[in-house]
Amino acid sequence: MPLLPLDADQLLTTTRAVRKRLDFSRPVDDQVIRECVEIAMQSPSGSNNMTMQFVIVRDEQKRKAIGDIYRQCYDIYRSLDGVYIGSIDKGGDRENQQQQRSAASADFLADHMGDAPVLVLACNKGSRVEGAPAMMTASLMGNVLPAMWSFMLAARARGLGTAWTTVHLMMEQQVADVLGIPFESVQQACLSPLAYTVGTNFSAASRPPADSIIHWDAW
Ligand SMILES: Cc1cc2nc3c(=O)[nH]c(=O)nc-3n(C[C@H](O)[C@H](O)[C@H](O)COP(=O)(O)O)c2cc1C
Repeated sequence: MPLLPLDADQLLTTTRAVRKRLDFSRPVDDQVIRECVEIAMQSPSGSNNMTMQFVIVRDEQKRKAIGDIYRQCYDIYRSLDGVYIGSIDKGGDRENQQQQRSAASADFLADHMGDAPVLVLACNKGSRVEGAPAMMTASLMGNVLPAMWSFMLAARARGLGTAWTTVHLMMEQQVADVLGIPFESVQQACLSPLAYTVGTNFSAASRPPADSIIHWDAW
């Protein structure tokens, strides 16, 4: 699969949450997904144990079922003032306009998750995080989150779009049941649509200056 001509910094700064620009009509070949997973498996892993798992959902009925669950969860999320993306005041006109565009994009995905030709569910195999001590929680999630981000970067390099989502985890068990995932030993971490993007030009997002989040030598 030919790669887009992006250097490392361009890849890292232009891998956006793609929702409205997903091409739902273009199929995605298994081989390109396998390439993205191979790259994702180069990510760090606690005790070098490689417990990250990718559930790749191509089956239309299963995608639609997960899309329905996602929509139900999103409706709950949307009612949560101060949590829902569209209810957060970013403190300035320009920032709030951007936030509302992001909210409209997230709303759109809520109506179309099941229309993506592929859904990717990043999981960790072993045990669940509920009640686990901080070291275990960080390790369990840390075994899958870098891998999923690597997957998304590899996808972007191949002209594919993704969007990190978590709201379906309100009904994680229902999604596990659709896919036959053993809920007690497999923790779901992220659900993403996967589709070719409409055009490949994406820009770096506006972010606060780095010094607003750096704590030199002490908090
Ligand atoms: C932990 C996490 C959870 C997220 N959950 C959702 C989600 O459930 N639905 C959604 O549409 N976007 C979700 N997003 C995507 C964010 O809304 C998005 O990353 C953010 O608005 C910045 O947009 P950008 O990635 O294009 O810069 C999530 C992102 C992260 C990191």
